[in-house]
Amino acid sequence: MFARQLSRFDRAIVEIERALSASLDAKPEAQRPSPAAGIADAPLDENQRRHAAGLMRVNHTGEVCAQALYSGQAAVARDEDTRAQLLHAAAEETDHLAWCGERLDALASRPSLLNPLWYAGSFAIGAVAALIDDKVSLGFVVETERQVEAHLGEHLEKLPEADAASRAVVAQMQADEARHGAMAKAAGGIELPPPIPALMRFASGVMKAVAYRI
Ligand SMILES: [Fe+2]
Ligand SMILES: [Fe+2]
Repeated sequence: MFARQLSRFDRAIVEIERALSASLDAKPEAQRPSPAAGIADAPLDENQRRHAAGLMRVNHTGEVCAQALYSGQAAVARDEDTRAQLLHAAAEETDHLAWCGERLDALASRPSLLNPLWYAGSFAIGAVAALIDDKVSLGFVVETERQVEAHLGEHLEKLPEADAASRAVVAQMQADEARHGAMAKAAGGIELPPPIPALMRFASGVMKAVAYRI
């Protein structure tokens, strides 16, 4: 019994560490080099720079949310394989978080000040989804990645043509998110019923509008 309590306590400490580093450390260590490496930053006018920074701040916050969602799901997943897969996906999102953080630096900007809030909300959503059922939890990953993939496609249209470095990061992220979604579907993720996908779109729309500015 004591060992079980200790293991839960250990897990809680790990979650708190993960939350603090994902929401407060803008540039964790990436496993893969950034797709922007070796691409020289082209001169942007002030409007272009602010616009690109706003878009990359949204993407950075999206990655904070992805880590929180997966960590919340993993914290209450019933099946060990599902838990391992969710934690693996969260680790891959760390690359995205680091790459977006580097782009914010290069664009002379900063991450969203509200990242701890986004992390807490996304962690709670992930935990609730996983409490229902592991297949629902994986279905959440499928839908999240589908929406993120579409949103990154929009950003490829909106980013200034000259900002080739940010565009390279977003393009690689888009390919990775498609793979994450396919993996979750293959692992048994179900299609979420309406109105859940629409509610998720609404929540991410609020996040995007706020994170672009703050
Ligand atoms: Fe990602
Ligand atoms: Fe992903």
